[in-house]
Amino acid sequence: MTTLMSIVVTMIAIMFRCSNGLSMNYYMMNCPMAEFIIQNSVRSALTSDPTLAAGLIRMHFHDCFIQGCDASILLDSTDDNKAEKDSPANLSLRGYEIIDDAKQQLENQCPGVVSCADIIAMAAREAVFFARGPYYDIPKGRKDGTRSKIEDTRNLPPPTLNTSELIKMFGQHGFNAQEMVALSGGHTLGVARCSSFKNRLKNFDSKNDVDPSIDSQFVKMLARTCNAGDNAEQPFDMTRNMFDNGYYNALQRQAGVLSSDQTLMADPRTRPIVNGYAMNQAMFFMDFQRAMVKMGLLDVKETGQVRQNCHKNN
Ligand SMILES: *[C@@H]1O[C@H](CO)[C@@H](O)[C@H](O)[C@H]1NC(C)=O
Ligand SMILES: *[C@@H]1O[C@H](CO)[C@@H](O)[C@H](O)[C@H]1NC(C)=O
Repeated sequence: MTTLMSIVVTMIAIMFRCSNGLSMNYYMMNCPMAEFIIQNSVRSALTSDPTLAAGLIRMHFHDCFIQGCDASILLDSTDDNKAEKDSPANLSLRGYEIIDDAKQQLENQCPGVVSCADIIAMAAREAVFFARGPYYDIPKGRKDGTRSKIEDTRNLPPPTLNTSELIKMFGQHGFNAQEMVALSGGHTLGVARCSSFKNRLKNFDSKNDVDPSIDSQFVKMLARTCNAGDNAEQPFDMTRNMFDNGYYNALQRQAGVLSSDQTLMADPRTRPIVNGYAMNQAMFFMDFQRAMVKMGLLDVKETGQVRQNCHKNN
């Protein structure tokens, strides 16, 4: 009976194996409660503050786009190293305490087993689902990296990019235009700060200098938001805590917040994709989850350490 069980388990393990050493059931034997623990940490935190969902998705994105999905974003600066975390680009990263909470429980249950990189990936997935987005299975088994340098954050896409630049930058990570537009849909959750869109409002009083791709009423709303200063928050769409296709509807109304959002509607290469997602939420969900799984595999490390404390190397 036990032999039969172990054969079945091995067969399942082989079935779910990915080419890069990751697998869907990576923790099945040595930390079977891993997903459950992370799910609980995320759910209890988001129940008291749903706005943290956007922070967790963004954290996963930042982590993967710099040096691969290796939890480099979680490393603290040290006396002789400024970490990614301390870049101005980190401003909207939130939810570090959720990762810490999950990690602590995991270390109690199965010390040294679940990597910080996997926790970020699973936490982002739980955040999407908590906000009523799709639920998708993700491969696990990432190891944690040891390098985190502030200068690497230059590789993050700034909010001013046009579609050509976005296609190029995402292309360098292996994404096509459709996947780039689907990933941009992560902006269905959360807010942008005035500092990242005020370039569009330059000389608001002289109409000619306002970005022509913004709706004339919406631009007034952006300007009002910015009256409260650089850190003032503007939701990307009307349902900031709900994972839906409202972001694409906003782009259709010329009410995209960042240049890098509205450009997707302006460019003939990406406009049909935006229109498609605006019309068909199920299609957006399907493409988004595929693109997220793909993003979660960017330059993953198969060998290396599992940090005991996500803030520092072992
Ligand atoms: C983000 O970076 C700033 C410096 O630009 C730093 O003061 C702040 O503590 C960082 N935030 C987090 C959450 O690490
Ligand atoms: C996009 O930006 C690049 C670099 O600033 C510029 O060379 C290019 O002309 C822009 N493309 C469009 C379509 O505006």
